[in-house]
Amino acid sequence: MTSLLPPRHLLEDSDLTREQLEHQLGVAAHLKTERANGVEQQRLIGKTIALLFEKPSTRTRAAFEVAIDEQGGHCTYIDPASSHVGVTESIEDTAIVLGRLYDGIAFRGYAHNDVEALARFAGVPVWNGLTDRWHPTQALADLLTMREHAAKPLEQLAVCFLGDARDNVANSLLTSGALIGMDVRIACPDALRPEDDIIHAAGRIAATSGGRVLVTDDIDQAVTGADFLYTDVWVSMGEPREAWAERIPLLRPYRIDQAMVQRTGNPAVKVLHCLPAIHDQNSQLGHELFTGYGLDGAEVSDDVFRSPHSIVFDQAENRLHTIKAVMLCSLNRSQPILDGA
Ligand code: CP
Ligand code: NVA
Repeated sequence: MTSLLPPRHLLEDSDLTREQLEHQLGVAAHLKTERANGVEQQRLIGKTIALLFEKPSTRTRAAFEVAIDEQGGHCTYIDPASSHVGVTESIEDTAIVLGRLYDGIAFRGYAHNDVEALARFAGVPVWNGLTDRWHPTQALADLLTMREHAAKPLEQLAVCFLGDARDNVANSLLTSGALIGMDVRIACPDALRPEDDIIHAAGRIAATSGGRVLVTDDIDQAVTGADFLYTDVWVSMGEPREAWAERIPLLRPYRIDQAMVQRTGNPAVKVLHCLPAIHDQNSQLGHELFTGYGLDGAEVSDDVFRSPHSIVFDQAENRLHTIKAVMLCSLNRSQPILDGA
């Protein structure tokens, strides 16, 4: 029997078996309850963790820092501008150095190969805090949030992602959703489909989990009966600003607004977004999209974002509990948090 404890590294969603994923969610829920009841045990005392970030972050960085702090450990945040990594020093050398100093490394970067190289050379656990291809800690929070907001088990629920489906968040949702046995639907223009190998791998996973995978440009087919709608920014970090000009006409039909909510036919449908979201003009980019393209909010309308359908801030909070679970399952292996691991 394989261990319920996940592998030490978390680089992409399919690193976990279905049982390990279930276990990780169970650990996160347990930690959330411990914290809410004021009885959180500190399990990272004496541990030091490096947060090596090549891209900006609010939630992922904050979740790692708060999780480490609450668990009694220490961390160093290395921001996109202040280290040598990738500029004057290779990933390999950086990994070896950080591995000598720290007990674990959280990495956010561009090429997925980079986080794989880090894991190969560091000699300590490495957790992917987002690359261009995968965002596995996000998907853990997404699943926990959907589980909390549903009366039925996840394998009886349908989630539909709308938007730029080649992005990290869509890839991770597709894979993790398939792994847990959900009905995962992706609605996107043909030009913005996930790569074929990711779709095929998710299909194979779904075939063993009892899940279902659908990728289509037929919005009605994808959203009808969905329990959850999910979207992400139309232009991701690392892509040029000019991409907005071609993305807007392609993706405007996939925006989650009140009409899209109605199209599900499910009055109780919930809306997810990994955040940050462009839903109004109250950010520099939101303002520029309004003045440049007449777009008042992009992937999600402000009224839906602020409506009772939206569970985006519960989702953001769950980054903390799930990231805590990831670190503890990697670093605290001799003392499992739940029975049976
Ligand atoms: N969802 C997410 O990863 O947010 P940050 O970019 O703020 O970390
Ligand atoms: N797809 C987005 C996710 C941000 C959390 C990006 O990579 O910018």
